[in-house]
Amino acid sequence: MTSSNLTITVLGAGYVGLTTAVLLANANFKVYLIEPNDERRQVIQSGKSFFYEYGLDVLLEQALNSDFLVVTDSYETAVTNSRVVFSCVGTPDNPDGSSNLSYVFSAAEETLKYAQPELVYVQKSTVPVGTGQKIEALFVEKAPNLKLRYISNPEFLREGTAISDTLFFDRVVAGGRDKEAVNLVIDIYKDLEEQRERLAQLSKIPIAPRVDQYITTSLNSAELIKVTSNAFLALKISFANSIAILADKADADVVEVMDAVGADHRIGRAFLNAGRGYGGGCFPKDVSGLISSALDYGVDLQIMESAQEQNRLMPGYIVDRIQQALDNSLAGKRVAVLGLAFKAGTSDVRKSPGVAIANKLHEAGAHVVTYDPEAQEEAAIDLFRGVEDSESIEATVKGAEAVVLTTEWPEIIDFPASKYAQLMHGNVFFDAVNQYNALDATSNSLRYIGVGHRAE
Ligand code: UGA
Repeated sequence: MTSSNLTITVLGAGYVGLTTAVLLANANFKVYLIEPNDERRQVIQSGKSFFYEYGLDVLLEQALNSDFLVVTDSYETAVTNSRVVFSCVGTPDNPDGSSNLSYVFSAAEETLKYAQPELVYVQKSTVPVGTGQKIEALFVEKAPNLKLRYISNPEFLREGTAISDTLFFDRVVAGGRDKEAVNLVIDIYKDLEEQRERLAQLSKIPIAPRVDQYITTSLNSAELIKVTSNAFLALKISFANSIAILADKADADVVEVMDAVGADHRIGRAFLNAGRGYGGGCFPKDVSGLISSALDYGVDLQIMESAQEQNRLMPGYIVDRIQQALDNSLAGKRVAVLGLAFKAGTSDVRKSPGVAIANKLHEAGAHVVTYDPEAQEEAAIDLFRGVEDSESIEATVKGAEAVVLTTEWPEIIDFPASKYAQLMHGNVFFDAVNQYNALDATSNSLRYIGVGHRAE
């Protein structure tokens, strides 16, 4: 079997599914994208993604115009014609922290109804180790004659850089029992890789050379690679944050510390930026999912519980420090919160530290005004009643006793200190992402406070 002229179905049009479908269609695979939600499907069919992701819309439009991409809610239309299915459905967390796999299993069952013999079923959704074996068993039990092949191909793209991460990857991991199917998945990525300069140009993203590797493993290892990667990155952040709190007490600077610690190539500087902690649809969920699935195997991952707890504490730590800076009282004081997205480059506000900080400040009695260049609308539902939103940095900051930077949007980080100082009523300038130029702030009479970080 070769990858040329393949027809592929992608299940689910979230960040992963939409990016995958659009890129494969632009690499001239015939792609059916299944999205059951009518509203989302209509938006996508009109050539727009329903979330903000740099470079995606132009590729989506191109894919739709070329007829290589068909968006549908019909498994029958899509799967009947496909040799390969990429499952990119959501895996939300249950209230107890475990992964909710109902979409993962219902997508597999629905596919079974229309699958051709020997179809290659590729799991991109993040699932606990052992899930693939259960789906393999389901395939054998319900359709023994079809001989479906199951591959785990975890996704490592980040929101905000989804196109770049997919085209210029560190590694593609594929794990499964059937070597021919594993190789087919790898070949699909190699076809995409051949087109990457053209696609980067089209979507106006920079060419980003990486040491790309293709790694084939067992099924269970592939599943564990994904959650271990995210858990380790979350661990690095929580570690940096715990050292930041020590730095605050010990009169050291966490940025200086991590710059030097990260200069050791065995450690690396990435993901050691201390601040308000991690958020988003992945790290919080994947850490709790890993803890919970390890317990199913009788393993207590206390190290990850500590990382999780450290992260949970960060918004409260920041609000306490703002309160101290405002003479120990937030009551009635106007505080500007700049940044509601869980990181820059996305409109996603899931488990966003900026939202948590705004709500905690409000609970403590502050008059909170918020701003985000892309996430205002998505945040509205999570913000407590009484938290105001505003349409610009200027309007948010005007008359504020304190400003808190909670997302590292360039617009916020590059906003001149002189203007912040001019617009504010007070001078407390809390940089909860440790990204603002501290010297600029202090030389404009702002009282700069970072997380384990300060001016000089
Ligand atoms: C993360 C992983 O980085 C991807 O490789 C993975 O594919 C994805 O999860 C997923 O499982 O789908 P993402 O959640 O988009 O990607 O965002 P990151 O860029 O990893 O940032 C996560 C959070 O950590 C953000 O809130 C960010 O502000 C925070 N962070 C990041 C820090 O607080 N400090 C750092 O040094 C780095």
